[in-house]
Amino acid sequence: MDYTKFMTERSKARNPSAIRALIPYMNREDMISLGAGQPNPETFPFESMTVKLKSGEIMEMDPQLFQRALSYDLTSGLPPLNQWLRQLQTIEHAPPCDFDISVGSGSQDLLTKALEMMTDTGEAVMVEDPTYTGALAFLETLNCTLAPVATDQYGLVPDALESLLANWPATNPSGRQDQSRPRVLYTIPSGGNPTGISSSFERKKQIYDICHKYDIMILEDDAYYYLQFDEKRIPSYLSIDVDGRVLRCDSMSKILSSGLRLGWVTGPKPLIERMNMHTMVTNLQPSGLSQLMAYELLKLYGHQGFFEHVHRVANFYKEKRDLFVECLEKHMKDYAEWVVPQAGMFVWLKLKGIKDSQDLIMTKAIEKKVVAVPGLAFMPINKVTPFVRVSYSNVNQAQMDEALSRLAEAIAEANECK
Ligand SMILES: Cc1ncc(COP(=O)(O)O)c(C=O)c1O
Repeated sequence: MDYTKFMTERSKARNPSAIRALIPYMNREDMISLGAGQPNPETFPFESMTVKLKSGEIMEMDPQLFQRALSYDLTSGLPPLNQWLRQLQTIEHAPPCDFDISVGSGSQDLLTKALEMMTDTGEAVMVEDPTYTGALAFLETLNCTLAPVATDQYGLVPDALESLLANWPATNPSGRQDQSRPRVLYTIPSGGNPTGISSSFERKKQIYDICHKYDIMILEDDAYYYLQFDEKRIPSYLSIDVDGRVLRCDSMSKILSSGLRLGWVTGPKPLIERMNMHTMVTNLQPSGLSQLMAYELLKLYGHQGFFEHVHRVANFYKEKRDLFVECLEKHMKDYAEWVVPQAGMFVWLKLKGIKDSQDLIMTKAIEKKVVAVPGLAFMPINKVTPFVRVSYSNVNQAQMDEALSRLAEAIAEANECK
């Protein structure tokens, strides 16, 4: 595939930094480097790093890797971590096409770089309706047209995508007739933020086929992939990507720690290379110490141990989901509708009798001392909505019960006032 059509001129214009391009040579043992002007690690006060795990195990960072992690390193991530993640992608997704990997400072870092690489000013980008505020906030800065694609309880609706593309530019939300068809679809296939919805495998195949037909790149933002409650995870877009049209972002935030700020992107080499160029000219690389901490843990776990760990994490959220749904049944039946999430940490409530959730959540719910997020925040095109996002990730059963009872009261009072 010719990937240059998915790169903006700005992205194509990025050249390797002369010094960064030398880093692979500098780390070779037979090389004497007069090149980099790297700060001398002898001046760094850190001697070693030991981390105690909740299991009681002590994780001693490999001394050589620790010294390496204190210095500048490769743009695409600490090599043993990059390698470990490459193996993980092969085991988990068995991508049909050749792929490359790059580590970033969280999946947000990577997905915004991917969006920036593929979106010209004034261009149209397809997003789910509703979608993640973090992506919307970034897309707003690109000055592009957002083309929302409808979703339902099984994920993106294939007919909606087909109709949007087949009837372009008549379907262009900006009304511009001269704007070319979008070339990117941004999707959150597992435990969607805000909907909690997971796209079925059937749907993924249908959506993929449409993207193949119209030559669309799929940006798969799968931060909640390992938080699927069913033991058998729904296969990813990457796993069915026979054309090389998927860029997939994974995150360590929901499974190891969000403060590590680590994520990884998998996809066609030419696109990953462009993203690396972006890193090279902006934040240089993700934090070495974060990467080392993650790598030592993943090495300790091994791939099998990693799968056992994510299974435990998914079960943790599944138990919370079950309790939360019980509380929803108890308090919210008369006031809202919802789809029970099969992954992640969100429920998308459609309030009954309320047209616009904004005022209710921002004033009445706050007065009752309960915080939720009004649906407007997730709308690609500002529109009044009865939806509200609630999350069960950080509340215990008593708090869930109390919060939902307060929310129900706020809705009941708002309905009475009408
Ligand atoms: C859908 C989605 N994508 C990406 C991110 C960003 O995750 P990270 O911490 O890996 O940058 C989030 C964070 O909440 C998210 O919900």
